[in-house]
Order: sequence, then structure tokens, then C-alpha cells
Amino acid sequence: MSPCLSFEDLNGASEAGFAALLDGVYEHSPWVAQGAAQARPFRSLAQLKLALADVVSQAGREAQLLLIRAHPELAGKAMAQQTLTAESSSEQERAGLGHCTPEELARIQSLNQAYNEKFGWPFILAVRGPRGIGLRRRDIIDTLARRLQAQPEQELAECLRQIHRIAELRLNDKFGVEPTLGQQVWDWAEELASHTDAEFRPLGQLTVTYLSEAHQTAMRRLQWWMAQECGFDEVNIDAVGNVVGVYHGSSPKAKRLLTGSHYDTVRNAGRYDGRLGIFTAMAAVRELHRAGRRLPFGIELVAFAEEEGQRYPATFLAASALTGQFDTAWLEQTDDQGISMRSAMQAAGLPGTLEAIQALRREPGQYLGFVEVHIEQGPVLNELNLPLGIVSSINGSLRYCGVIQGQAAHAGTTPMNRRRDAAAAVAELILYVEQRASATAASAGTVGTVGMLQVPAGSINVVPGRCQFSLDLRATSNAARDALDADVRQALADICQRRGLQHSLELTMSASAAPSDAAWQARWEQAVSGLGLPLHRMPSGAGHDAMKLHERMPQAMLFVRGGNEGISHNPLETVSSDDAQLAVQALQSLLEHMSKETAA
Ligand code: GLV
Ligand code: MN
Ligand code: MN
Repeated sequence: MSPCLSFEDLNGASEAGFAALLDGVYEHSPWVAQGAAQARPFRSLAQLKLALADVVSQAGREAQLLLIRAHPELAGKAMAQQTLTAESSSEQERAGLGHCTPEELARIQSLNQAYNEKFGWPFILAVRGPRGIGLRRRDIIDTLARRLQAQPEQELAECLRQIHRIAELRLNDKFGVEPTLGQQVWDWAEELASHTDAEFRPLGQLTVTYLSEAHQTAMRRLQWWMAQECGFDEVNIDAVGNVVGVYHGSSPKAKRLLTGSHYDTVRNAGRYDGRLGIFTAMAAVRELHRAGRRLPFGIELVAFAEEEGQRYPATFLAASALTGQFDTAWLEQTDDQGISMRSAMQAAGLPGTLEAIQALRREPGQYLGFVEVHIEQGPVLNELNLPLGIVSSINGSLRYCGVIQGQAAHAGTTPMNRRRDAAAAVAELILYVEQRASATAASAGTVGTVGMLQVPAGSINVVPGRCQFSLDLRATSNAARDALDADVRQALADICQRRGLQHSLELTMSASAAPSDAAWQARWEQAVSGLGLPLHRMPSGAGHDAMKLHERMPQAMLFVRGGNEGISHNPLETVSSDDAQLAVQALQSLLEHMSKETAA
């Protein structure tokens, strides 16, 4: 085996020598490495990977197409004739493409042909996958079928990102580097995702709603990992189901840094939303524990039990308990089955009393602040080829449950001009929300969504007499959010008046926009720069536990790139073990800097 490549070799080589050392990283395309030689010296793999990706981004469409076409077809002729490069051959082999059944091979070949006809280039997929160990053949086929439906520009960009991922894995091999912390994070996420609510199990979907059986299993699993694998000094389940791990500082009385994210999920979710922020902190504490190190401050990791507002509309109930804002009325809310939150808590062995929940309130003076690592859940970092982003603020949001009451009537006999159709009114409202939020989207980041719509006991031949709906409104500032809110509520009133309908709207969540604390944001920036990466500051369109903690203490978040065009709240959500590794390293670096600051 040849010795591993080092930065010393790369930085010290001639331009031709540099390209030769990186031979094979970009398939049959030495120009990529040649183009990056100018950007030396390199001091981290993340920096080198980005410099290579930048060369491709700047090369123009013709060169990009040549790069894509330099790749062999998956399970294609070159594999059969054994003319693949050594790298491609080992990658395709690892993904088991050499052992396809005749049916699988036929399916891949017909998809490859349709793909080539549609796009004019071969399908590119990093078949070693986000963990680097090889995708399953079924996943490869499903991905090929899915991406065949994409628009050409979107697909070209995705092929280039897959090429960068292939290059990343080849570079890791050349450097003899394995992202072991990121792999651990990835493996924890994979295992936790095996617990899903009973009705979603047969569908193969991940759904973990507040205090379901799967939620309680996930809770205990997290508790076990924190206590047994990561070396937290104390790990408790609190009165709302949060898993709270404390790793003491040099003195158990020292102030603490609060961190964490949520482990509940939306329906048919991805594996990293929320959970990534728990696992990155677990990995960082595990490393401190293994090294027998104590920092001048304690680390309190909270795996929040609820952030998604799926079973009960009490969104952020877990973080609200810590900020002393748990609403008394929430305990009486009921789920779809009529089970109250109080009963659900008691069935899960939690006290289900307000006193126990109020006791969870944290004293801000005992904390340095709150930091949260989270998957970006959008396309921005992915498009920029950046693994990490700095959150500058979290958008403010409002959520409502609404009902429009009209009159149920015969679908065949009720004239169109005499109807009081509740669903048609909600449909009109949806279109208004879409148009109004779009109008100020560019200036104020406004978004509006009706994600739930139901005609209770509706029938095919009955004009809807009642329609229930949800409303989710967000913007970068409270002022813009409130202006959107006022307009939407006015539109609802106007629509109902014109159509002769009644309506009610119950506010179920209000979260203020949460700008990051300047000092904590600067600490994340220092950590990201330390990894050799440029800073990309961005607002968060998604809500996070940090926006609740924001009301009591300084907070700042770090975003991690999601693959598959950054899609989230979707099973396609994905994070590579390399990006997870960088997230853990950024957190470790933030802890180190904070130690120095605290000691000084
Ligand atoms: C949380 O996932 C949100 O809805 O932003
Ligand atoms: Mn979410
Ligand atoms: Mn989340």
C-alpha cells in the first residue's frame, strides 16, 4: 500500500507534481487538480475539497459536461468489460453492482438508457453513499428512477455534487483519513431511526411523535448512549420527556453551556432533523470523557422531547418547559385519539403535573448560553458546496388551527350560487396566502403554508359544511411576520363574509424572530474558519429549539449541509459522515475556545 498523502507533499510539489498527486480524484479530469494548485497552501482537507469544487463551478458548462461524461455508466459496459479505473471499479464493487440479479441489471440498463436519452450524459451517483460504505442496490435503482424525473439544470448540478462526493471519498482514501466521529454520529442516527411509530412501521417510514411508544424507546436509547457510551456524569429524563445529560466542568458548580436539539420528528421524516444536534454534542462529550478532560464550564445536553407540534399543537413544549413558558392549558390538549397530554405523560411514567414541569425552568445566570447544531433543511449550503453555515437569525413564526363553518348540502341539487362551501373558502384562503407571502418573500423572507386541510365526515356527494385547516406564517422579522398575519386574517374575514360563512382561528404557537447573539455567532465563525472553511452567514427559515431558549439566554446555531438538494421533512433528507465530522469538530473547537475565554 502506498504511503498516505500529506499536505506537506501537496503544498511542496510543483504544479504538475500537485496534479499528479491528486490523480484519479476527479475521474479522467486532471484539469480540476491543475486549477486548484494556485489556491495552495492547503491546511485542511475541507479546504482542499472546496478549492477543487470551486474549480469545477468556475469552469463553465462545457467543461462540466466533459467532466460528467468522463464517468462510466453505473453497472454499464465498462464494468462488464473490466475497463473501469481502479477507483470506479472498487466503488461499484463495494455497492454490490457486480452482483446484480439479471432483473436488477435489466432495470438499471433500461433506466440508464432513458436517463441518457433525456439528459445526454451518464447518471452519476457516489455509490459509496453518505457513510462511505456503499449504498444498497435497491437505493441506487430508486435514486436513478427518481432523478430521471428531474429538470436538466437541476440534474446537472446534482451530478456535479455527486462528483464532488466521489472526490471527497477518494481524497479521504489518499490521505488515509476516516471521519470516525462523523461515522459515529451517522450510525447513532441510523440506529435511532429504527424506532418509528407503530402505524408507520409497515410503511417503512420514520415518524416519532411525542410520547408514542417509539418516542419512549428513543428516549431510553439516548439516555443509555449518553450515560454508557459518552461518559456524561448525570443523565435524567425530565418531567416532559427531555433527556438531559450533564458533563461537569472542573467544578460541578461551574456554569454550564447548554446545547441540544429535538428527537421527535414530523410524519415520514428524515433522520437528522433535530437529532444531528444531539449526536454532535454526544460525540464531543464522548471525546472529552475519553481524554479524561474537564473544561472550566459544564456541558448540559438536552435531547428535547418535542419541537415539531405533531401530536399536540403545543409546539416547542419541551424547550418552553426550560424557559418557564409551559402553558397550563397544554396539559388538557387532546390528540387525534382524544388522549390528553396529561394522560399521555402519566402513561409514559412522567408525573403529568404542572408543578413538576414548572420545576424544569432554568436559571439563565447559571448558563453561558445555548448553542445548537442543526441540518440546514434547505438547498443553500449544498448549492455553494459548503459543509457548514453560520446562522445569523431564526425567522419568526405563528401557527394557527382554523375552522370554517358553512352548510353541508346536496352536491347534485344545490345551485352553485347558493352554496356555503367551507372547503372552497379555505382553498381561496390558501391561494391568498401563497400570493401574499410571495409578494414580500424577497424583501422579508415571508412564507405561508396551509399544511393540513380536512373536511370532517365529508362525502363525495355533499358540499363541505365544515373545513379545518392549519396555518403557518413566517418571516425574517416580527414586523414582517405580523404584517403578513394581519393581511391573512383580514383576507380570511373577507372571504367568509362574502361567502356567508363563520370562522374561528386559534393561535397555537408564536415564536419571535431570534437573531443570533453576536459573541456566540463569532465563536461559531472562529470554529468554522479554523477548519479552513469560508464563512457563509444565513437566516434560518425553519424554527428551532434555540428560538425558545433565545428568550432567556444568548444563543447561536451552526448549520450543516443536507444532500439531495437539501430536502428536509422528507425521508430523502441526508447528511454525509464527512459533514457530520466537520460539525463535531466545529463544536469541539468552539468548546476549546470557550475554555480559553473562561479561563482567561
Ligand atoms: C420545525 O421543523 C419547523 O417547522 O420549522
Ligand atoms: Mn423539523
Ligand atoms: Mn428541527
